[in-house]
Amino acid sequence: MEIGTIGAGPFAQAFAKQALKAGHRVKLSNRRGLESLREIVDQLGPGAQAATKEEAAACEMVLLAVPWDNVPETLASLSGWDNQILIDAINPYHGGAGNFTPADVGNLSTSQLVAALAPGARVVKALNNLTVRNLEADPIVNGARRVAFVSADDDGAKKQVETLLGGFGYSVIDLGNLRDGGLIQQAGGPLAGRDLFEQGERYK
Ligand SMILES: NC(=O)c1ccc[n+]([C@@H]2O[C@H](COP(=O)([O-])OP(=O)(O)OC[C@H]3O[C@@H](n4cnc5c(N)ncnc54)[C@H](OP(=O)(O)O)[C@@H]3O)[C@@H](O)[C@H]2O)c1
Repeated sequence: MEIGTIGAGPFAQAFAKQALKAGHRVKLSNRRGLESLREIVDQLGPGAQAATKEEAAACEMVLLAVPWDNVPETLASLSGWDNQILIDAINPYHGGAGNFTPADVGNLSTSQLVAALAPGARVVKALNNLTVRNLEADPIVNGARRVAFVSADDDGAKKQVETLLGGFGYSVIDLGNLRDGGLIQQAGGPLAGRDLFEQGERYK
């Protein structure tokens, strides 16, 4: 599958590494444009491509990985979502690396706000519990599978992201809808930053 990323920082790059390992192609985009992405896609290797935001957003699945403060301007510049799955891994923080302060999003998940700003996209909240270091590490450690959580209001889209992340090697757990599941996994929730593993057989 071809997957786009809006944002090409450490989080999108770690995601791209897992996607490429699983045999997908990844179109990465950022704010500064194609030239600034050259080194990143070279390091990621075959299957990674520098793209415009519009090209990345036209992929069947799209990872949104920009800072919370940049979400409104980013989504305002991308209209015409046509049923693409938009994976939201955003934590509600103001500021940048080393200078984070929590953003007040009331009792909403960031994904509900993202969904309102991206009409036509099918938003799935995922991967909020993983730091960059954990996201780029091997999802299977000593036979145990690292846990990834998904939440969405669209069950079909959630299933597709579950299949994608299962293909990366994760044990995927469905946390329910965008609001309740989103709040559980995003920063401030009980599963934020928790690096969990599942061992052994699952009861089906
Ligand atoms: N880091 C983590 O451990 C972690 C874990 C879970 C979730 N997350 C979430 O993942 C998101 C990204 O994290 P990060 O650490 O990779 O952030 P980052 O280092 O700040 O990178 C942000 C990326 O977004 C791009 N961007 C900003 N505004 C844009 C716009 N208007 N249009 C297109 N691209 C734009 C930037 O492009 P330029 O470089 O061209 O400015 C950059 O590539 C954050 O929301 C964070 O909460 C991070």
